[in-house]
Amino acid sequence: MGSSRRIAVLGSGYVGLTVAAGLASMRHEVLCSDIAESKIDQLSSGVVSIVEDGLTDLILAMVAKGRLKFTSSNLEAISDAEFVFLCLPTPQGRDGSPDITTTFSVAREIGPHLAPNSIVINKSTVPVGTAHKVRDILNRPDVDVVSNPEFLSEGSAVLDFLQPDRIVIGSDSRENGLRVAELYGDPTDHKCIVTDTLSAELIKYACNAYLATRLTFINTMAELCEAVGADIRTVAAGMGTDHRIGTAFLNSGPGWGGSCFPKDTEALIHMAEAAGCDITLVKTVVSANAGHTERIVEKVETAVGGNVADKVVAVWGLAFKAGTNDLRNSPALKIVTALQERGAIVRAYDPAMEKDSLDGVELVHSKEDACVGADVLLVATEWTEFSLVDLATIGGLMSHRSIVDARNIIRIEDALDAGFDYVGVGVGRVSTIRLLNLEAG
Ligand code: UGA
Repeated sequence: MGSSRRIAVLGSGYVGLTVAAGLASMRHEVLCSDIAESKIDQLSSGVVSIVEDGLTDLILAMVAKGRLKFTSSNLEAISDAEFVFLCLPTPQGRDGSPDITTTFSVAREIGPHLAPNSIVINKSTVPVGTAHKVRDILNRPDVDVVSNPEFLSEGSAVLDFLQPDRIVIGSDSRENGLRVAELYGDPTDHKCIVTDTLSAELIKYACNAYLATRLTFINTMAELCEAVGADIRTVAAGMGTDHRIGTAFLNSGPGWGGSCFPKDTEALIHMAEAAGCDITLVKTVVSANAGHTERIVEKVETAVGGNVADKVVAVWGLAFKAGTNDLRNSPALKIVTALQERGAIVRAYDPAMEKDSLDGVELVHSKEDACVGADVLLVATEWTEFSLVDLATIGGLMSHRSIVDARNIIRIEDALDAGFDYVGVGVGRVSTIRLLNLEAG
């Protein structure tokens, strides 16, 4: 581990907080800022509103050790910082490109006040070329701008930060790249990739677009499985044993969503077009993904006889994936909205959401409450607790025993034993013979 450094982290969203607490746990002195004073007041009094496994505990531990502090002033945060991490929002702009006005305005604000020879490090996902633009805006020949994209997944962000697959650092000066690498420990001990800024910025987009493509591929294979009578779970398991393919990210589902893949694939398309490069593949992935989400809506319609109008649909899970309360671009929410537009009465439960209603959706406080009088149960987010229920009890609460399992997490045998009509993704209406084959495999 290198020596302790003074670090400013600007932005205390889920990336900023994870980075700040993670760097503090590496013995650095971290001052984290946010313009939202109420958020800083909360954080200073130990309240963390983000649902992220292990984050609250890490923040509280680092605050107690005096290595992590908060301020609502960016200028105070940077005043004597050697390293300044930008963890700022880059929402999708109207034309699909990321809106990086916050990054630029913060650069304008801090430029004249940065400590001599400090390094500004961009963590947020920003278009290729942004580090160079930020350097121009800072207008400080002694200050370098380095790209160090984050690869944090919601739900496992702390672990992803503390035990990364790799750390990508893009710098036009190898010396400054290594200075940043040393923050994470001995650069020769950990998996550090030090490269130029443009490549580092593109690695981030390429990773997310590749993972989205992989998921769209598996969801396309799931569609084919239904058409030919194969089972996507065995197909994916068979694919994953090839070491060149691997098992991760092969779970078929309702289409990918969240705050990153949709935004980053659109941004990549936009960036490529601006560079005169037509990336048809990524465009196709995006449109196919919308089709996969729509297919779940159709499965629910079919499950209730073709028309959801006035049917009661119990929905388990609204978050875009398990382990988070994030609803941004959640396939579950898209499906719910489409069902409501077609006249369905939706009653939803999500263990990470305690409100009574959300974006026009009635929320209840238990899996059972969602199912009372329901015509069909849709499993939309893969929370573990959904796969552990006693389906006989659940079935007894419903008007009709019917499940659409958009995450393939319910044991099909249990559903059939409890008298349910079961529909998954890429598993079709499963026959006993196929179940026996799966067990044997
Ligand atoms: C994603 C990347 O995985 C992170 O590496 C990256 O740092 C992050 O974006 C980012 O750019 O900030 P995240 O958006 O938290 O992380 O979510 P993922 O776990 O990647 O899931 C994305 C979507 O794919 C979700 O809708 C999820 O349900 C879906 N998914 C994932 C599947 O349908 N099947 C799978 O097997 C895996």
